[in-house]
This record gives sequence, structure tokens and C-alpha cells, in this order.
Amino acid sequence: MRKPFIIGNWKMNKNVQESVDFVNQIKEKLPENKEIGIAAQAVSLYNMKQMAGTSDLQIIAQNASGENEGPYTGEISMRSLADAGVTYVMLGHLERRRLFNESNTAINQKVLAALKAGLVPIICIDEEMVQAEINGQVHYVFRQLMNVLRDVPIDRLAQIVISYEPSWAVGGSCQANPEIAEEGCQAIRESLAASYSQALADQIRILYGGSVNPRNISEIMNQPNVDGALIGRASLEPDSFLRMANYIECVNLEKLQAI
Ligand code: PGA
Repeated sequence: MRKPFIIGNWKMNKNVQESVDFVNQIKEKLPENKEIGIAAQAVSLYNMKQMAGTSDLQIIAQNASGENEGPYTGEISMRSLADAGVTYVMLGHLERRRLFNESNTAINQKVLAALKAGLVPIICIDEEMVQAEINGQVHYVFRQLMNVLRDVPIDRLAQIVISYEPSWAVGGSCQANPEIAEEGCQAIRESLAASYSQALADQIRILYGGSVNPRNISEIMNQPNVDGALIGRASLEPDSFLRMANYIECVNLEKLQAI
């Protein structure tokens, strides 16, 4: 059973005090049956973790270096994030690829460095698919996925989280589309099954990201292959974030409407 994972990606928003206040406002109101996390600016992560205390809120980094340590001025190491209480690190977000020219090779190096430091990577993948021959059969696969997972030990794969983020849906004015979310997540799971095994593919959590909000989250989360949501703009306000963290499955919503 894959546990739903709802993540707020604050991007370059909120200072340390605002971030800590937000954690204080939500930490007692989190649902028990889901994993909830916030990806904040690196400077806030330690204080947020202190404020989160023993609550289950996951404090997530938005990026880090692929190098373990050394003369890399301005970079942040995975090990320092782990020391600060961070458990997950987002890697390969569309904005990192587009605005900072991060390549699949660089992201792969970061994935390996994260695992070495004991962090769990949340790997973002967009819609670019190619045909590839695997074990003599032709499959549609996500080129990014196969490249960024290169050399990841098979026994670590099950814990990795993947987020499907179609580029047109991230930060734009388009509506998130539950069918497209399902198609993308399903295709990623099929790619994983073709490259590794169905059993492994069934264990890996695949999230959807791009224009998720309190109105559409239930329908998106009701798709069989969507195990969570990575939410940008709609995660910046505590009430909106809590509504999404505590989303009601569509089934229940229909039932409620019928009453
Ligand atoms: P958005 O961002 O929810 O504002 O579209 C999504 C993301 O950054 O993954």
C-alpha cells in the first residue's frame, strides 16, 4: 500500500520567521493516514525542523549539491541537510532544469549523493517520452527517468519518490487535468516495470505536480496511479495547504453531496 504524500513547494518564497510560523500553524492539524511535507528555502529548514518537533511533518530541501563536500562555494551539501533534520530532497524540478540548465547527468549525480547522505530523493520528471528497447521489447519511457536513476542500487529504488510534472501545468494558468495526471503517472509506472519489475514499480510512489489546488486535489488523488501531489502556488497559505493535506477522496465527496 503506497502512502499518499502531499508536498508544498514554496520555491523562493517566505523568510525564516514566516516559514516557522507556518509550521507552527499546521503541525497539530495534519492527517494521520498521509505523509505531509514542505519544501522550503534552505536557510529556513533547520528552524522549521525545530518547530515541527515530534510532529510527522516532513521538512524537504528544494535542491542540493551533487558533490559530497569541498571547494564548491555557494553550494549546500546533502550531508548538511541531513544534519539539519531534513529527510527528503527535491531534485530535477522543471525550474532547476530550465533556469539553471541542470542536466540529467547532474541530477543523477545529485540523486546518488542524496542516497549516500541518507536523504530520500523526490525526482521531478516532465512529459518528454522516447521509445526505447528494453529486454528486446519496445516501450515508451521517460528519458529523464532512466538517466537520472542510473547506478541507483536496486534496493534503494523502492524508497525514491517520483513527481510527474508536465511543463505546461507548472506555474501556469492551465487547469490541472486528472486524466493527464493519471496517464503520466501510469506511463512512469509502466516505464519502471519495464526497466526493473512490476513488483518494484508497484512500490514506488509517483506524485503529480502542476496547478494543483483545493478544488481539484480530490479528483487528482482519486486516480489509481497518482500517489500524491507536489503543490506550488496553492501551498503558500496555511488554510489552503491544510485543506489539501486533509483532502476528502472523491468517493466521500460524492457521498456527502448525495446526503
Ligand atoms: P504550481 O507549481 O502548483 O504553482 O503549478 C507546481 C510545482 O512547482 O511543482
